[in-house]
Amino acid sequence: MSDWGSVPVTGSTTLPPDPGVMKAIGLNHALPTAIADLVDNSVDAGATTVLVRFVRDDARLLGVYVVDDGRGMDESTLDRAMTVGSRRDYDSTALGHFGIGLKAASLGQAAGVTVISRADGPAVGRRWTMQKAADSFECEIVSAEFATATMDTAWGPLTTQRGTVVRWDGVKEFPGARNAKVVERYLETTLTGLRQHLGLVFHRLLEERRFSLLVDIHDVAVSESGPPFLVDPIDPFAYVRSGHPAYPCTLTAELDGAGVELRCHIWPGRSQLPGFHLSGTPERHQGFFFYRRGRLLQDGGWNAVTHPEKHLQLARVAVDIDDHPAAFTMNPEKTRVETASAFAQAVDEASGPGGENFADYLRDAEGAYRDSRKRSRSRPRVVPPGRGFAPALRRAIGRELEYLAGEEPIEILWGDFKDDSFFDVDREARTVWVNKRYRAAVLGGRGGSLNDAPVVKALLYLLVEDLFRGAYLGAKDRDNVELWRSVLTAAAKEETG
Ligand SMILES: Nc1ncnc2c1ncn2[C@@H]1O[C@H](COP(=O)(O)OP(=O)(O)OP(=O)(O)O)[C@@H](O)[C@H]1O
Ligand SMILES: [Mg+2]
Repeated sequence: MSDWGSVPVTGSTTLPPDPGVMKAIGLNHALPTAIADLVDNSVDAGATTVLVRFVRDDARLLGVYVVDDGRGMDESTLDRAMTVGSRRDYDSTALGHFGIGLKAASLGQAAGVTVISRADGPAVGRRWTMQKAADSFECEIVSAEFATATMDTAWGPLTTQRGTVVRWDGVKEFPGARNAKVVERYLETTLTGLRQHLGLVFHRLLEERRFSLLVDIHDVAVSESGPPFLVDPIDPFAYVRSGHPAYPCTLTAELDGAGVELRCHIWPGRSQLPGFHLSGTPERHQGFFFYRRGRLLQDGGWNAVTHPEKHLQLARVAVDIDDHPAAFTMNPEKTRVETASAFAQAVDEASGPGGENFADYLRDAEGAYRDSRKRSRSRPRVVPPGRGFAPALRRAIGRELEYLAGEEPIEILWGDFKDDSFFDVDREARTVWVNKRYRAAVLGGRGGSLNDAPVVKALLYLLVEDLFRGAYLGAKDRDNVELWRSVLTAAAKEETG
């Protein structure tokens, strides 16, 4: 028996899976990726609007709904939909592929999933609970009245004459304590993360207006829903100006006899756009962004082509995998793409129209990153802004400049002046005083507050900040203050008319 021959068989016996297998499915999902899986189905059903609704009472979270106005399902379609692994005929735009998304995403997150749907006939409903599924693969039938009432509920801006409602009960990660504060905190962070994830995954489809996606919170204690938030698309390539003039650049990799296009981008350094930061740090989102049928499957990662590195954080490559089913495989959660073993070499050998290659690209991305760091290092350190500056203004200054250690912040405040000077620099009090008599003119009718007039304050800060560094004012500095005061006072008088 030392040869590797084929195995002889004498017959077969049917061994259906033990229902306990249900306990294992969907465990790799997180709440946002699981909800994205349900949204995929709504998009496949041709929905124009999808609503994700969190349901709470005073002190607890009760469940989640994903509701769409798509084509809906009749009873036999719904039975097939609830069957694990039941694949249908997918058209060339379908996001579905495995026939498990709905069940895995739901039972990974919740103790029970109810699907209620209406096509052209009566509303129908089915429920899987983890308990019943794992005991005996028994799927429950929802009462017809309840199904109809659910479809006829007011679902915000949706019309659900046709459509589908997916309901999760017993969501595992919901806070257990009965405590309104805890619920609010959970909702705040979860909804931020969810809108971020959905906005990214569906950014192309949302930009193309294939559908719109809403999130709201329904409070059963008062039977009211809060205003729905629209999920905005978050495009991970939407910089205003490229970080390198030669990019974006398309390289073509030869894989299995077909050309795979690698759209190579370099972000500008230190961008504050949400499309750059995504969830967490931009460092985690370097590398490949794979799309299938307009849906994002992977938000960064190098797939063994190179290693993630701080210096490569501006490099992002968009790849549409639609036409290359043999070279790319998505995981069932649709959050990663496995690449064929030949991928890394194909990328190494990829080239652009002018003979550019991937090694050049990585080097350029690294260079752009180093340049952007150099620029900020060559700027002098400054005295931080303190009271009187709007928080957004303080943050903007903080992003651009490093602060001197141990320097008291500069305040910028309105004060009573004996004369008509526009401003004064008070080094002892670490304060720039601005003459109150010009306040109404500067504000132009808006109400005053501690942080008002951000433009004027920003300009004054940029002008005088360096006077607060060091021990004393030199003659040149004093003359500058005289000059600025005289010109600005004339200007301010002009403003007041
Ligand atoms: N919101 C919906 N509207 C209409 N039909 C739906 C909806 N959700 C699910 N279905 C039906 O149920 C089937 C099973 O959905 P499921 O998500 O489990 O698998 P899939 O979408 O076919 O593949 P994948 O595992 O890749 O998601 C779908 O193919 C579709 O026919
Ligand atoms: Mg699906």
